[in-house]
Amino acid sequence: MAYSRITGLGYYVPDNVVTNNDLTKWMETSDEWIQERTGIKERRYFEFGKDTNYSMATAASRQALDRAGITADDVDVIVYATITPDYFFPGSAFLMQRELKMDGKPVIDIREQCSGFVYALSIADQFIKSGMYKTALVVGSEIQSSLLNKSTAGRNTAIIFGDGAGAAVVQATSDPAHSILSTHLHADGRYAEELYMKDPGSSRERPFSKELIDEGGFNVFMNGNAVFKHAIVKFGEVIQEALTANGYQSSDVNLLVPHQANIRISDYVRQQMGLSEDQVINNIQRFGNTTAASIPIAMAEAWEKNKFKEGDLVCLAAFGSGFTWASALIRW
Ligand code: UT7
Repeated sequence: MAYSRITGLGYYVPDNVVTNNDLTKWMETSDEWIQERTGIKERRYFEFGKDTNYSMATAASRQALDRAGITADDVDVIVYATITPDYFFPGSAFLMQRELKMDGKPVIDIREQCSGFVYALSIADQFIKSGMYKTALVVGSEIQSSLLNKSTAGRNTAIIFGDGAGAAVVQATSDPAHSILSTHLHADGRYAEELYMKDPGSSRERPFSKELIDEGGFNVFMNGNAVFKHAIVKFGEVIQEALTANGYQSSDVNLLVPHQANIRISDYVRQQMGLSEDQVINNIQRFGNTTAASIPIAMAEAWEKNKFKEGDLVCLAAFGSGFTWASALIRW
């Protein structure tokens, strides 16, 4: 029986730092409001002409491959999560595959929003467990800054989101004691329009008209309160599901890596689980919410800072648009 193990982590964030005070140039808001409601102090925005969704993913992947001690030639499949691809189609996985000179190797583009990385990890895990592939490159990458309404009308979403990419190399192992123990995926399309970007929607009478741009369908819409209320329940549920499936309880967890949605959500989940501040990774203060990239960036940073070690029980958990929610339990 094959098991899968994360053998390398990497991340890339653009150099361009945008502080809360910078945002006040475009919208009525304040550093105080943003920090109090979300925990965010600054985020990164891509630089046009320098960063693309796939170039950031490639940089993160190269770092993850180096750290795993392998090259792109050794990778059997790419699973790439993003809601902000470079092109409408084909997906950014194709562009990264070309960059990494992996011609002929399969690529899978998935969406699944803020849960995208955990979904992608689960896909890689199943491929490896089934014996179909031995090495997968799992990526989350987002350029969201170009799709936000940065006027006062869009301030409840514009303040939250940032750009960046994270990647993990997942490889087959025969050792279940150091492997991904389980993944748990959920979705509920009844809430699709609570957090979504409507356009360019194919089912519109005139998908690319100026009227649609003026209507705001090309910007992110979020019902922040509804998302918040569901998130605090579903994070707890899906973490408990992972623990129960493996016969563990909260006190067995060494490290929780939550999707970086809002510091208040992470704090609520941390308190529910009885974990200390040290046991929960929060970098939303510096990077904002980077959707599918947030968990791999947080994991890669935590790994660099020696926040976890071999044998630790690491839990990943996400909630986001769709709605989707997901978790993974890893014995490192
Ligand atoms: O990763 C995907 C998952 N996403 C999330 O998990 C996000 C979940 N939601 C949230 O984090 C919060 O709902 C927000 C941070 C987005 C908003 O915080 P809130 O405490 O729910 O604020 P609100 O939307 O209820 O708005 C409260 C007030 C309103 O003013 P009035 O009507 O009370 O006068 C807003 O107009 O705050 C106002 N407001 C702002 N004021 C200054 C909303 N956005 C801003 C802003 N700056 N950026």
